[in-house]
Order: sequence, then C-alpha cells, then structure tokens
Amino acid sequence: MKKVGVIGCGGIGGVHLSQYAKVDGLTLAAVCDSDPAKAQKAGETHGVPFYTSHQEMLEKESLDAVDICTPPAFHYQAAMDAIDKGCAVLCEKPMAVSVEQGKAMVEAAARKGVFLMAAFCHRFHEPVALAKAAIESGKLGKVVSFRNRFAGKFAGVENTWFSKKEISGGGNFMDTTVHSIDLFRFLTGEVVNVVAKASTSIPGISVEDTGVMLLESENGTIGTLECSWLTPNSENIVEIYGDRGTAIVDYNRGGVRIKGADDADWGQPELTLPEWDHRFHLEIQHFGDVLNGKASPKVSGFDGLRAIEIIAQAYASVNK
Ligand SMILES: NC(=O)c1ccc[n+]([C@@H]2O[C@H](COP(=O)([O-])OP(=O)(O)OC[C@H]3O[C@@H](n4cnc5c(N)ncnc54)[C@H](O)[C@@H]3O)[C@@H](O)[C@H]2O)c1
Repeated sequence: MKKVGVIGCGGIGGVHLSQYAKVDGLTLAAVCDSDPAKAQKAGETHGVPFYTSHQEMLEKESLDAVDICTPPAFHYQAAMDAIDKGCAVLCEKPMAVSVEQGKAMVEAAARKGVFLMAAFCHRFHEPVALAKAAIESGKLGKVVSFRNRFAGKFAGVENTWFSKKEISGGGNFMDTTVHSIDLFRFLTGEVVNVVAKASTSIPGISVEDTGVMLLESENGTIGTLECSWLTPNSENIVEIYGDRGTAIVDYNRGGVRIKGADDADWGQPELTLPEWDHRFHLEIQHFGDVLNGKASPKVSGFDGLRAIEIIAQAYASVNK
C-alpha cells in the first residue's frame, strides 16, 4: 500500500480526494492546503493529518507519493520538493507554467528514479479509449483530420486565478487546450507543427479567453483545437476522421459514435463505466498500479512537458 499526500484541496483536489477510498494499492495519508480552513476540512473529512505547507507535510509524513492539485504556478515547487524526498508525483494540468519548469521536473524525476505523471484524465475517459481502439483496429483507416472543441461559459473567470497569468501561466490554452493537445497526441501521434490564433473579449483580463490551434502530427493528421470561456451551449466534442471511417466522442450527449465507410449506420459501443468521474478514478488507479509495479505508465511527465512546449509555440505564433 503506497501512502499519498494530496496538495491542494479545492475543486479538483476534492474530486481526487474522493477517489482514494475507492482505488486499490494507494492510501490517503495526509492533505495539505495553504488555506487553513480548507486543509482542516479536508483532513477531518478524510480522517488524515492536515498541513498548510507541503514542505512540512513532506518532513513529518513518510509518503510514497504526492498528488498536486494546486493552481499551476505552485506545481513546480511542490513537485520538486516531493521528488527531492523520493516521492512519486501525480500533477494536475498544466504540469507547470513554463517549459523550463516542466523540463526541470522531468529531469529531476528521472535523476531520482521516481514516477512523474501528468494528470491527463481524458486518456482514461472510456469513450476516448474506445475511439483509440477503433483507430488502432484500422476501422477508421488513415486518420487525416481531428477536431476538438472544449468550451463553455466560465462566468466570473475575471475574478479567479484562471485569468491571472502569474498564477495560471496563460489563458484558456493553459486551462483547456492543454487537454486537447494531449488528446491529439494520444490519438494521432507526436506534434510537428503548431500555429494558433487567440482573442480576448472578457473585460479586465489580459489572457486569451478564446482560441484555435492548428496542429500537424508526424503522421500527417491535421488537428483543429478550439476553446472559449465565452460560449454557452457549446459542443464539447472530439471528432476523428479517417479515410475509412469516423469516431465522435460527444461529451455533451455522452458516449462515442463510430461509423466505418461500409457501415449502414453509426455504432455506439456500450459504456461499462459512468460517464463523468470514472476518468479520475481510472487515472488515480493507474498511478497506483504503476507505483505498485502492476502497470507501465500510460502517461508521463514528458507528456505534461510536451503540452506546455506546444502551448509555448502556439503563443509565439499568436504574437507573431
Ligand atoms: N483535470 C481536470 O479536469 C481539471 C479540472 C479543474 C482543474 N484542474 C487543474 O487542477 C488545478 C487546481 O484547480 P482547481 O480548479 O481545483 O483550483 P481551486 O482554486 O479550486 O483549488 C486550488 C486549491 O489549492 C490551494 N492552494 C493554492 N496554493 C497552494 C499551495 N502553494 N500549497 C497548497 N495549497 C495551495 C488553494 O487554497 C485551493 O484550495 C489546476 O492546475 C487546474 O488547472 C484540472
């Protein structure tokens, strides 16, 4: 049983925390939040010691791993201190706020021989896994086009850390498109070219609220990745088009629709897992399985770093 400390007990921290009682091979041993009330609440809810400083938690608890769920600017120091103690790290997206930080995290983990996992939960979303299986089976043929829109209405974003570049590292590309980039790489291969456009319409913020990235994979797939914090009723969708078929992961309606060139109708593979939080459950279970030697990593710190590198290229393209 590996002992984990969760750092950051806010929105997504709460989702992660609720998984530990349900996964095998990991036990929640401590929690940390810089806000004393949040630290205390999480500690009391889960019956574990609570801290307001991750350094103190690392000193006092003998942890095997940490799960970092703080805003992005705080990922780096928490990860580096944990790695220094020999802890494995599961780190929320974006893994860091700069390429330099991301590289240092990957290098430090490699030097210490500890597992650094970027928390790209969509890789564990069952409809995405089914779409990947369809690609790998050859049902879609050569994948030529990929389109992903993750968007919605983020009311009040101007009052949150998400729109403060010094904490978030950027705008909606860092918040949302970071997932899209990972999905594109996961489903179609490594990115070799990046161009982007971005705009800001929300008063009082200096980061992009809306944007499009155009990616090219080494296999020649062209991807269009869209994000916006401004658009109610938005599609949230991954569309994968090959020369022999199509797969559509529909986050709004649920599930995945797949149609081969010769199929009369769309097929909808039955899902075995609930639509929403199973991806966090499977993500954290996978972290545990790797730590317990039961699985080899499906996602790593390198994947976290690549997403940040691609976002940096996108910002360079926007600012050209
Ligand atoms: N994978 C996903 O689908 C998903 C969804 C939402 C957020 N996220 C990511 O998770 C991270 C957290 O986002 P959130 O929405 O939970 O934010 P949040 O603001 O709701 O929670 C962050 C928590 O971290 C605490 N905190 C801040 N600095 C700290 C520090 N130095 N040490 C310890 N605790 C600290 C805050 O007090 C707060 O409780 C971000 O990187 C975000 O991008 C991922």
